[in-house]
Amino acid sequence: MTVDSRPLTEHTAHSAWLHDDAFAALGSRRVVVAGDGALTGTVAEEVAAATARFGGAFSRLEVGDGVSDAELVLTLSPPLVEPVETPMVSTGSTGAGTADESFRLTREAGAVVVQAASDAGLLHGLFHVVRLGEAAFDGPDADETHAPATDLRMLDHWDNVDVHPVMGQVERGYSGGSIFYDHGYVHADLSRVERYARLLAAVGINRVAINNVNVHTREARLLTEDLGDVVRVAAVFRRWGIRVHLSVSFASPITLGGLDTSDPLDQDVAHWWVRAAARVWDAIPDFGGFVVKADSEGQPGPFAYGRTHADGANMLAAAVEPYDGLIHWRAFVYDHKQDWRDRSTDRARAAYDHFHPLDGAFSDNVVLQVKYGPLDFQVREPLSPVLAAMPHTRVALELQVTQEYTGQQQHAVYLGPQWSQLLGFRFWDASGGEGGSPTVADLATGRGKAVEDPGTGTWRKPAGGFAAVSNVGDDEFWTGHPFAQANLYAYGRLCWDPALDPGALLDEWAALTFPGTPSAVRDALHTVLDRSWETYEQYTSPLGVGFMVRPGHHYGPDVDGYEYTPWGTYHFADRDGIGVDRTVRTGTGYAGQYPAPWSAVYESPSTCPDELLLFFHHVPYTHVLQSGSTVVQHIYDTHFDGVARVEAMIGAWSEVSTLVDPHVSERVSERLAEQLRSATEWRDQVNTYFFRKSGIPDERGRRIY
Ligand code: GCU
Repeated sequence: MTVDSRPLTEHTAHSAWLHDDAFAALGSRRVVVAGDGALTGTVAEEVAAATARFGGAFSRLEVGDGVSDAELVLTLSPPLVEPVETPMVSTGSTGAGTADESFRLTREAGAVVVQAASDAGLLHGLFHVVRLGEAAFDGPDADETHAPATDLRMLDHWDNVDVHPVMGQVERGYSGGSIFYDHGYVHADLSRVERYARLLAAVGINRVAINNVNVHTREARLLTEDLGDVVRVAAVFRRWGIRVHLSVSFASPITLGGLDTSDPLDQDVAHWWVRAAARVWDAIPDFGGFVVKADSEGQPGPFAYGRTHADGANMLAAAVEPYDGLIHWRAFVYDHKQDWRDRSTDRARAAYDHFHPLDGAFSDNVVLQVKYGPLDFQVREPLSPVLAAMPHTRVALELQVTQEYTGQQQHAVYLGPQWSQLLGFRFWDASGGEGGSPTVADLATGRGKAVEDPGTGTWRKPAGGFAAVSNVGDDEFWTGHPFAQANLYAYGRLCWDPALDPGALLDEWAALTFPGTPSAVRDALHTVLDRSWETYEQYTSPLGVGFMVRPGHHYGPDVDGYEYTPWGTYHFADRDGIGVDRTVRTGTGYAGQYPAPWSAVYESPSTCPDELLLFFHHVPYTHVLQSGSTVVQHIYDTHFDGVARVEAMIGAWSEVSTLVDPHVSERVSERLAEQLRSATEWRDQVNTYFFRKSGIPDERGRRIY
């Protein structure tokens, strides 16, 4: 592999999964690019650069021109995928004039042709060939069509224009400053955004919301007086087939428009939004739409006027509808000022309680964006029942690529396996899914059986795709921890095809990021990352109970940190036991929000999966798990084991660390040392806490304080 020996300061940005050498196979071929369109120009530039670097040949032709000796042809063509006729409750736009992004790859006697109906498809086809490397040309004859599972593959940036006094430049950002903003301004030099857009295009992301869902005063102005800055950013993303969205404040008519209300049923309010949308689309014709966090953690919303969230979302939807715009409306609505003494209020119930009654009431261009779990991106949560409860609403699955609760990019935690498991979950089947009932991926993409709702037998609307919080900042590795790049990579690829194997994605990422690297490095990456999500779960909060983090910044252990706060995230540990009773019979009733069979499976401690036991049940420390261990012994065992695994990760890495770029290696080693320190702290605090509460010693007599 190429070892880059420049000093750290000269690295503006790491090449991530677009290392120059990843283009060697393509770059050494005779390549033809044919067709018009801006993105075909981008494809041509990529090919021209690669062939110049690796000694191949490049020519640009018109579609249909004769090509004799090309080894790779990338060409626009007539539509490839027949439109699928899907019966729906009502028809309507699927949003923002989405192009057919599919491409077809044929290989005959080593000559490869990539055809796409749109220039966006051609760009995806190019990066497919890059991913395949030599295999693109060496393989047997083939004829394959590739199409994304959904046309809504989005990343949300929680970047602030102004540095927020508590949250900083990027809310929950662990990768330095923002690639867009710097202390109140949009960067004059957007070259880093350009490199980012190229990386995202290479994994298939096609939409980006560029500001925090918590919209503060300065950020609100992106919609109005600072729109010119959004125009600049959108121009950069456009070259890579990515649409820009903005997070907007529901109170904008008041804060920006000088009205005395933002009541969604007020005509002046509706007109204000109509004019705001017209200005935005006039300036950015391919603008994607608005993201809204309303009545959530202090953000304004329709509740202030006694209106529903459908009233709020639909008013905005009407304003953006003429432009095929979308409203991504977040379902993260709960009471963040609850009384910890009140055991009947359950934050986990809130989204379902608010949104389920509104199923069918949202306009066709509203996407309800639902966090994967009912609480907040914990290392382990059950799937949000809202995803199954809205058959007449477009739902999007929201993930968190930024590692707020999973080690903040100090800890190596590869989230591909978690996401893959979530995507494969079946709400109507607890037996492993041979019966073909819809998976969560089906619900989000509208593919497969998801179009028919098993509960009601009615047809679903077009689905809402995927959204996730980005983990990128102006850090030289983009993501703080170089291995956190693998999470962004896997997210994009899983949006394109949710059935991809996370282990194979790790190999893809490694091959593109560290081309030519010895297989020992590849093996070490697997040793470090394959089970890292599970390892993190082992040394942090046990059995799905969640939180136990230091309030505010959410890094490191603090078992009782949230126990007596208004945030609704409690574990209820006492001297006898721990966990939250969310059963229908004796608890908050949350388990009843699931369809059968999961409502029954979760209801009983004897059938509830071990890893979620404390999410659904309050049990004694001596309760025997399905694994055969008691709860308290499980806590001790997993915490000792988790730290031992981190030690093994360090051992595996130290054997190969000299074989990779010293900058990468140095950063990884530094982070692994912090992971060990932090994991040890977690182990000792959690074990000590439960030993002191329960008085039950570790049956293996290990050191607890
Ligand atoms: C979490 C996170 C907040 C964020 C919120 C959201 O609670 O800690 O910083 O604003 O999620 O998703 O809106």
